[in-house]
Amino acid sequence: MTAVAQFSSRAAEPAPAFDIWMRHVQAEMETALEQFLPAAASIPTKLHQAMRYAVLDGGKRVRPLLVFAAGELFAAPAGSVQRAAAAVEMIHAYSLVHDDMPCMDDDALRRGKPTVHVQYDQATALLVGDALQAQAFIVLAEAGEVGKGVDAARQIVMLRLLAQASGSLGMCGGQAIDLASVGLNLSLAELEQMHKLKTGALLRASVLLGAWAGKTLAQNEIQALEAYGAAIGLAFQVVDDILDATADSATLGKTAGKDAADNKPTYVSILGLSESQALAEKLRNDAHQALAIFGDRARRLRELADLIVQRKA
Ligand code: IPE
Ligand code: IPE
Ligand code: MG
Ligand code: MG
Ligand code: MG
Repeated sequence: MTAVAQFSSRAAEPAPAFDIWMRHVQAEMETALEQFLPAAASIPTKLHQAMRYAVLDGGKRVRPLLVFAAGELFAAPAGSVQRAAAAVEMIHAYSLVHDDMPCMDDDALRRGKPTVHVQYDQATALLVGDALQAQAFIVLAEAGEVGKGVDAARQIVMLRLLAQASGSLGMCGGQAIDLASVGLNLSLAELEQMHKLKTGALLRASVLLGAWAGKTLAQNEIQALEAYGAAIGLAFQVVDDILDATADSATLGKTAGKDAADNKPTYVSILGLSESQALAEKLRNDAHQALAIFGDRARRLRELADLIVQRKA
């Protein structure tokens, strides 16, 4: 039995501790992703092997955790939550493969392993990203069928949410601003806009996807979840900038100190370390406040806001 169904059917028992819940979701995601990716032996084998290399066995799975937590809030069917979570993780993994390419950040290490263009080649890395994006929408388009709980209207909302968060007004747009900002002294408003798009958009979408998998949301619920998503989305990249400047490559599983080396404007370069840390704390508080209307039912989302701000990698 899967996480959502298992935990919601044991309402009389105390909910498991956060770290147990987290590990359970991460393990469930690994199995789901393996299943939703084309088999390594299917032709073209090199592309399929590289897609699996990019997605499986690595990463914190923060976006799937958000989908599961929001899904739990509205008792979403387990199959739909799994597919929505896998879809957003595939988009995220594709964004990392392209982000690491020589034409972007030119990174050799990701999730503790050589990046896809290093392990394979650049053309394969490009195609891995393209194919993962398509695969994400195949998986999400089947969320209703498998979960038997998502009606067609909600399914279209979910497909649109993920497409918007991925495109030029979401992650891709943020990446374009990031690349155009090298060496520039951005204002705080410009920096916030870039971070909201390149990282915040997919995190916000993760929260909304999990919730829409559960029910047709009321306006006040959408507003609360959007406020929460905006706060944790920005907090996540603020902390990513802090860790780039303060942690080591072995801990991060990616090259530390890369932002300063590449002359990228970041929260650390513009606000300094301690103001950036204070901002992350403020955003954590904003995220908690946004969840007030849900009471204790939103506990996993609160715990995830804490994880996003307090993480060390
Ligand atoms: C890294 O994301 C890239 C950003 C959007 C900041 P994560 O820190 O979630 O990377 P993984 O998935 O755990 O590898
Ligand atoms: C990447 O931001 C965001 C996306 C991949 C969309 P970064 O370039 O800061 O991510 P890392 O630090 O390489 O993981
Ligand atoms: Mg980048
Ligand atoms: Mg990068
Ligand atoms: Mg970074």
